Amino acid sequence: MPDAILRAEGLCKDFRGFRAVDRLDLQVQRGHIHALIGPNGAGKTTCFNLLTKFLEPSAGRIFFNGRDITRATPARIARLGVIRSFQISAVFPHMTALQNVRVGLQRRLGTSFHFWRPARTLDRLNARAMELLAQVDLQDFAGTAAASLPYGRKRALEIAATLAMEPELMLLDEPTAGMGIEDVARVTALIKRVSAGRTILMVEHNMSIVAGICDRITVLQRGSVLAEGRYDEVAADPRVAEAYMGTAHAQEEAP
Ligand SMILES: Nc1ncnc2c1ncn2[C@@H]1O[C@H](COP(=O)(O)OP(=O)(O)OP(=O)(O)O)[C@@H](O)[C@H]1O
Ligand SMILES: [Mg+2]
Repeated sequence: MPDAILRAEGLCKDFRGFRAVDRLDLQVQRGHIHALIGPNGAGKTTCFNLLTKFLEPSAGRIFFNGRDITRATPARIARLGVIRSFQISAVFPHMTALQNVRVGLQRRLGTSFHFWRPARTLDRLNARAMELLAQVDLQDFAGTAAASLPYGRKRALEIAATLAMEPELMLLDEPTAGMGIEDVARVTALIKRVSAGRTILMVEHNMSIVAGICDRITVLQRGSVLAEGRYDEVAADPRVAEAYMGTAHAQEEAP
């Protein structure tokens, strides 16, 4: 791939003898929205955990912008510009939407931010936080506690808090999981909008979203790449249909 922002080579993860990720090779092209799909238990979330070093790979290498980050800490990887959101919503429930985004901004500023800075620094922070809230259509919810937001709005807030860290590469694990149709449409449009000028790697089960906004799709099965390409290419691949059918049968046959 000509300009890979992220590359994994031979990535493996063993859990007490069970190989959840098995010699995975993955390349994500800069500027793409890249989908990671596959049946339940295929290893998608584990793969995200490895790429961000929340889990230590059993084998393999990871490169970000050509730099080997296999041994880097999660904090270092975040500072380099790889930011993930979680499958389960992860905002601070008792903080307002504005405060949640401000936490993201402060994290980005890291040690250069000090609470004793003049009030105008805080004003700037608030102004930037409001901009980010507007980007995700949450400007009217700035003062609302995250816990009181409807589910879809909470996920939008999570994306705003992730954006606050100015990711070059954003990893989204099932950003539309559990949403109603309206929220799905809003968050999908939001992902497309915030993809400008950055790269997104996302786990997504909703195939109309994958077909609608993703430039490239990697299909995982039992921890390895089963197929890869544009949506029309992988959708036409009989092995992909079989992988999904296989799990449907398994679920039907379960007691
Ligand atoms: N910490 C762990 N210890 C042991 N096994 C694990 C651990 N984490 C994941 N696994 C196993 O690894 C496999 C892959 O799990 P993973 O969560 O990565 O799948 P997934 O593709 O994200 O699935 P889903 O679509 O359901 O989110 C599963 O069989 C899971 O049970
Ligand atoms: Mg998962």
